[in-house]
Amino acid sequence: LHNMEKGWMGTPIDELNRMPQCAPPLSHLKAVPNHTVTIRTDLLKEGEVPVPYPSKFKDMWDDVSVKMPCSEKNLFPMETEDGGGVQSRWELIHTALQGGFKSSLDVRDAILRYNTAHAKKWDFTALNLLCTECLEHCEVQHLFEVVLPAMVDLALSAPRLCTMPIPLLKSRMNHSLTLSQEQIACLVANAFFCTFPRRNSRKSEYCNYPEINFYRLFEGSSPRKIEKLKTLLCYFRRVTQTRPKGLVTFTRQTLSNPPAWESSQTQLTRLHITCEGTIEDDGYGMLQVDFANRFVGGGVTGHGLVQEEIRFLINPELIVSRLFTEALEHNECLIITGAEQYSQYSGYAESYKWKESYKDETPRDEWQRRCTEIVAIDALKYRHFLEQFFPEKMTRELNKAYCGFYRNNANSRHLSAIATGNWGCGAFGGDTRLKALIQLMAAAEAGRDVAYFTFGDAQLMRDVHEMHSFLTERQVTVGRLYNLLNQYSSLVCKNCRTTRPDTSLYSFIYEKVSSHATADVLDTTEDS
Ligand code: AR6
Repeated sequence: LHNMEKGWMGTPIDELNRMPQCAPPLSHLKAVPNHTVTIRTDLLKEGEVPVPYPSKFKDMWDDVSVKMPCSEKNLFPMETEDGGGVQSRWELIHTALQGGFKSSLDVRDAILRYNTAHAKKWDFTALNLLCTECLEHCEVQHLFEVVLPAMVDLALSAPRLCTMPIPLLKSRMNHSLTLSQEQIACLVANAFFCTFPRRNSRKSEYCNYPEINFYRLFEGSSPRKIEKLKTLLCYFRRVTQTRPKGLVTFTRQTLSNPPAWESSQTQLTRLHITCEGTIEDDGYGMLQVDFANRFVGGGVTGHGLVQEEIRFLINPELIVSRLFTEALEHNECLIITGAEQYSQYSGYAESYKWKESYKDETPRDEWQRRCTEIVAIDALKYRHFLEQFFPEKMTRELNKAYCGFYRNNANSRHLSAIATGNWGCGAFGGDTRLKALIQLMAAAEAGRDVAYFTFGDAQLMRDVHEMHSFLTERQVTVGRLYNLLNQYSSLVCKNCRTTRPDTSLYSFIYEKVSSHATADVLDTTEDS
């Protein structure tokens, strides 16, 4: 078979590095100042549920930790005979959720008992529709008799499971947080029941954080919401059936010293490019790119349903990052290691459908994390095509990608390849050919190969492959490419009066590099 018929070009994918094969042994898991670990590391053992640490709930109500629903500072205004008083909101949550649910209306009523301020605004149509029109009778029965009661138990076990204060991963922090999958399930169950305090209004102290409580997921009658709910309920069914036994690490990484792009002597690394397959299915063991929003997870708890939201739905442990990850700055990313896939899906956006439960058999590392590494990097959103060629925008995207790809103290041999695709080129309106080059440059600088999934675009596959081969053959450095991008910006884009330039970026590069080579040949001829 020719490559073209196989649907891929470049380096065979099996020649690229994947985890766990490429990785050196991990150091012993240990809590240190820049790594919070919420379980007993000394008791961590394969096949056993991790033990929370410390043994008793440590209550923190400050601006460096997540405000927990079970905190005794979580208070609720109460009508009393002598006017107003306050009551423990956690007790109210207990009472409300333990009342039992016979229908989705009971779920709504329970949630609204401790969220009274939103009673008029929150709408539970999607949850109602799911239960009354979309599920089979026996599925509804199972939901109300088994899954929801187990979710309530899971949510209410927060003071027993999530005993250590969870640090907020704030801007400019380089910090890792390792939680057990069971703790995550507990936190996500709390998000489902909308118990997190101070998180229901974008005007609150958490205005620079993503939404965590699920109230927007229940709203409206869009089929999207139904499919999203089915996907998440599959996760809750799974984790309440069998307690998950692994860990997941969330690392906020800030890039303080960006590379000197203009003088980089780095050559491009290897590229596998294909118009078939997806990042999550075919990029297993690689560093998988999440085409993120600066508020990680984007519209996952709302209406959004493209690459990032879908990933957060099928690997719902990712959702907990919204609880503690402040909006990403230009030079920051979030790396998530160990998130498990619980569902399979079909379609995309409007056509997205939950397909079935998925059993993730990805091996675990020594820290009992699935060998799945995902990096959230948010591209810039462009309204006009030409905007993205401004030098400062291109540099921003280079640094963002590099921040996601770069690993401190890592030998290139031990780094997995990057599984990516049309980053920033769907909802965010970027140009695939420019973004592919930018990602190739950042990957090269970080010392990693690339597996690029064009998501069905065969022409893009051929164009990027041809450009990559051309640049590699001519040994064009990252620095030279950077300067070519800037020349394209100033010579072609700056004075362009139409919405699109007459010369494409790739023709410009071919032209410049070829004519320069010819000039070199002429030079040498003259010399001799
Ligand atoms: N594997 C490979 N490629 C994919 C996959 C996949 N699983 N899914 C989609 N693509 P988009 P953006 C391709 O629009 O432009 C979210 O709301 C497909 O060609 O999700 O960076 C975030 O929260 C698609 O058009 O990423 C942000 O708010 C392209 O990747 C915003 O969208 C881009 O996917 C980010 O938008």
